[in-house]
Amino acid sequence: MEVMTSPVRNMPNSKQLQNYPDDAQEFGYQPEWGLYTSSFVFRGDFTNDLKLLQDKYGYKPLQVTQQFDNQVTDRNLGTIISSVAFRSSDGTVHTHRHPGDIDETPELFQYTPAYYDMTTIRNIIDWFGDSVCRCRIFRQEPGKDLPMHYDFDNERNSFDNQNQTLRALIQLTPNTENWMRFKSKTSDITLRPAAGQAIVFNADWVWHGTVNYTDKPRDCLMLILKDQDFVMNLGKRFPSHKIEFIEV
Ligand SMILES: [Fe+2]
Repeated sequence: MEVMTSPVRNMPNSKQLQNYPDDAQEFGYQPEWGLYTSSFVFRGDFTNDLKLLQDKYGYKPLQVTQQFDNQVTDRNLGTIISSVAFRSSDGTVHTHRHPGDIDETPELFQYTPAYYDMTTIRNIIDWFGDSVCRCRIFRQEPGKDLPMHYDFDNERNSFDNQNQTLRALIQLTPNTENWMRFKSKTSDITLRPAAGQAIVFNADWVWHGTVNYTDKPRDCLMLILKDQDFVMNLGKRFPSHKIEFIEV
């Protein structure tokens, strides 16, 4: 029997395959519909930073926007999620929205006092470099779930897929029963990300939701990133299946 080459991308067949295909290095995260979950993990002791955030700044309920109301009419976001901003449009800790209709770019945002008070969390923010726009930590209250929804970051750039605004989520508290689901045109992924693991996605295209089954708050860092090439290159920077720990 003749062994056929795969009709898809001329993939080699099992007899031809000695190594992974030549173009394997080009495989990886495609922001429009894909999901990136990192093979690197930030590792640090966030206890003091989280306590300071609670004591000095207090987590404030996240505002429920009209856009959210349009998506999910029966959720009361303020009782589910609260937040403190590290980068915001006015430099204050409780402003978390991008106020304008113009494209979200890093120079529109400034660090807040909470950023400067951090000892470990700010090292993660700094690691992402110049592409960070808004940045906040949010707290998902014990036992609460945030239903599947979209966010609206890319409306401001007319959904330009060469200039996507992406979200990175990094849970800081140890994960025992905090689950996330991401669903797009090509994927349906439910996972329990490790503390310090980075997840990146386009929140306008990738439907997402999260549930906290524990009796403890879930603290999660959220960064809005403007440089999609930076994110697409993470796979090449960390090519191994072995986890690389980044001490912060
Ligand atoms: Fe969201």
